[in-house]
Amino acid sequence: MSKNSKYIIVVSIIISIVIGYFIVLKKEANDIGEYIDISPIATHLNGMEFIDSATCIECHPKIVEDHYKTAHYNSLQLANETTIKGSFENDKNTLVLNDKVTFNFVEKDSGFYQEPKFAGQNTPFYSAKMDLVVGSGTKGQSYLMWNNNDLFQLQASYFTPTDSWINSPGALNQLSPARPVLERCLECHTTYAQSINGSPNSNQFHRKNWVYGIDCQRCHGSVKKHVIHHKQNPEDKIAKHIVKHSSLSRQQRLDACALCHSGLRTKTTERAFSFGIGDTLKKFSFPDYDESSLDELDVHGNQYGLLLASKCFTHSASLDCTTCHNPHKKERGDFTSFNQKCIDCHATFSQPINCSGDKDKIAKMGNNCIQCHMPLVKSKTMKIQLAKDEEVSVDVRTHLIGIYNQGE
Ligand code: HEC
Ligand code: HEC
Ligand code: HEC
Ligand code: HEC
Ligand code: HEC
Ligand code: HEC
Ligand code: HEC
Repeated sequence: MSKNSKYIIVVSIIISIVIGYFIVLKKEANDIGEYIDISPIATHLNGMEFIDSATCIECHPKIVEDHYKTAHYNSLQLANETTIKGSFENDKNTLVLNDKVTFNFVEKDSGFYQEPKFAGQNTPFYSAKMDLVVGSGTKGQSYLMWNNNDLFQLQASYFTPTDSWINSPGALNQLSPARPVLERCLECHTTYAQSINGSPNSNQFHRKNWVYGIDCQRCHGSVKKHVIHHKQNPEDKIAKHIVKHSSLSRQQRLDACALCHSGLRTKTTERAFSFGIGDTLKKFSFPDYDESSLDELDVHGNQYGLLLASKCFTHSASLDCTTCHNPHKKERGDFTSFNQKCIDCHATFSQPINCSGDKDKIAKMGNNCIQCHMPLVKSKTMKIQLAKDEEVSVDVRTHLIGIYNQGE
């Protein structure tokens, strides 16, 4: 036997031992039984491993199917023909920013681009690729661009009420696509993203360590052990290794939604993405505004603050967001179901609280409690200035349930 082949045999034996060792070790780590391979798609700074939400289909098929249609799941996606709502058709693919600059929106083989040109010139002064889409498009969308690991928000956005391209709300007429996107911005729109150096002011991200959109794990936390347990014990019908919403206090349940639905919270004590289900939100961050002043709460993005000021909330012990909302379903427009929630609770009191409004009007409005008691209100923050001194804001359902002069 040559020296070389002896060497090869020794090395092969060592490799086999090492591989064998790891297989045994992994089996033990998973509590013996059949080894189930669930590869993580990303890892949280705290060690929690994210897995593909398709893993849940096997046992929760209806929830997953419904969830894929929600605004939550579609709130941050890779840019493509279907996810970008703005048009690339000839008569709809421009945005006149001011008398000097016009944007063109261009579809190429390599992707979708925003290209601004000075009046009278043919070549754009930059061509910025839309890589990510923020917003399901219910009210609008913003577009993000990668430059190596640096993430930027592009100048032009899409506004659903006018079905057109617009200058991003709050964007100056700065002519470079240079508004850095920080962890804090992504915290409400995606399940996980991680900045490279951990600074709240950095826009550099680990591009592979992402979970797009708001998926199951954003609201339910760690699930890997849960899946392994139930795959190994299919006869066990009682949920294991998962936080149970039913065991949380009202404040914990509210906080799970308030994280993203209580307005901007930049006064923080912890890094973005550190809050998890069951945590107490005020240990992590504080709102930017005076919570006690109703005037400061905007209908856009602050359903929590407004609901808390409503009598339905202050005079009942259990009302929270899930009293009316099924967080797994796209429910927009399903007023029959929403109205039933009002009626169900109001009927439970020993003296049912009925509507004393004009019975004819109420009947004419198809008994739609929502239309009169949670009317659409114009947002103070989510609005755009159109060219001709005209302002368009989005209408949002106020969560300050009360008596308004509606249906007059
Ligand atoms: C192999 C089967 C199986 C898989 C896969 C599975 N689950 Fe479950 N899960 C169960 C069973 C069984 C229950 C208990 C019965 C029920 O509530 O449906 C449960 C319950 C739950 C509950 C309710 C907990 C409670 O009682 O409040 C949540 C939340 C949950 N699963 C989330 C997930 C998520 C998210 C995934 C995918 C990452 C997932 N499950 C994948 C079997 C599974
Ligand atoms: C991680 C942040 C986050 C959490 C947590 C969260 N939401 Fe949202 N929610 C959003 C964002 C962002 C949108 C807007 C998504 C879009 O249209 O792109 C949204 C939209 C919604 C909508 C409107 C859906 C539609 O059809 O337009 C409802 C209702 C809602 N959330 C309820 C809840 C409830 C109830 C909870 C708690 C169980 C919750 N959310 C938790 C971020 C969050
Ligand atoms: C504190 C949480 C939070 C932060 C931070 C946040 N958003 Fe949102 N955003 C929301 C919620 C909640 C909604 C939708 C609910 C509503 O209309 O009340 C929303 C809606 C949107 C929409 C409209 C989506 C649609 O489909 O209608 C866009 C676009 C958007 N946000 C972009 C951004 C961008 C870009 C950033 C970062 C610069 C950002 N948001 C930061 C919570 C947040
Ligand atoms: C926006 C937050 C949110 C997201 C995203 C979310 N859930 Fe839930 N889920 C909840 C809340 C809140 C409850 C408790 C509902 C209640 O008590 O009425 C719940 C309850 C459940 C339950 C038990 C009750 C039931 O409806 O059967 C299961 C199972 C479940 N979720 C699975 C999933 C799976 C699987 C996904 C992803 C496909 C997912 N959830 C995504 C918030 C969420
Ligand atoms: C979990 C129970 C619950 C639910 C759900 C609920 N409410 Fe109420 N609501 C109450 C209670 C309790 C009061 C306070 C009654 C009182 O003591 O004056 C109240 C008060 C009101 C008032 C009087 C408000 C005021 O400022 O005087 C209106 C209007 C109202 N509810 C409409 C609605 C509508 C519309 C819905 C559905 C969108 C709804 N409620 C859902 C419990 C509920
Ligand atoms: C009393 C019932 C009720 C409660 C409680 C409730 N909502 Fe709503 N919510 C509604 C109704 C009704 C709509 C309008 C749905 C539609 O337009 O189809 C709505 C709409 C929304 C929207 C979309 C707003 C818009 O106009 O685009 C968001 C976001 C939302 N709710 C979040 C929450 C959050 C977060 C909580 C808890 C803090 C909550 N809701 C509690 C009834 C309720
Ligand atoms: C056409 C508009 C309209 C519709 C639809 C409507 N309400 Fe009202 N509601 C009113 C007005 C106006 C008042 C206040 C009457 C007053 O104070 O004189 C009122 C009062 C109330 C109150 C306060 C208690 C009281 O009697 O003063 C409750 C609770 C209430 N409505 C619940 C509901 C519920 C639940 C529904 C759906 C089944 C509903 N309303 C549908 C207009 C409406």
